[in-house]
Amino acid sequence: MNQTFEFSVNGQPRSVTTDPERPLRDVLREDLQILGPKCGCGEGECGACSVLINGKAVVSCITPVANVHGQTIVTIEGLTTNGQLHPVQEAFLAEAGFQCGYCTPGMIIAVVGLLNEKPNPTEPEIQARLAGHLCRCCSYVNILKAIRSAVAQSKK
Ligand code: FES
Ligand code: FES
Repeated sequence: MNQTFEFSVNGQPRSVTTDPERPLRDVLREDLQILGPKCGCGEGECGACSVLINGKAVVSCITPVANVHGQTIVTIEGLTTNGQLHPVQEAFLAEAGFQCGYCTPGMIIAVVGLLNEKPNPTEPEIQARLAGHLCRCCSYVNILKAIRSAVAQSKK
């Protein structure tokens, strides 16, 4: 039976009436037209659908919408402030950390989530975090360059 859930997305209060078991990714994309979280595996294995929930990176395809009632969600669209890209977005641009870009929102959200938790992550911590993110274009070399650059910037 449908229920109503209220939460914040990118600073805006949102209310959705739907099946509590629906994945957050589908609610964001289909009900709220927020298309940054991508459709990949749908099983929590590729990271393409990642969003921040209360600052922590989470795969939204296996997160039931019922779990986010009262929570604060940020998608890739919400990282930009007054037209100014987030420093992690700038780092991906500067290092060309993408090819087709399909994995990029999830990668960037993962890095922002990592820096929220650990402002000074070690290389093994960076690589462990990326292990759950698949780039179908195999752009890992430049993605890692971008992440290392973003981490270096965050230390300044
Ligand atoms: S689509 Fe969510 S982890 Fe792959
Ligand atoms: S840049 Fe194409 S999937 Fe990663």
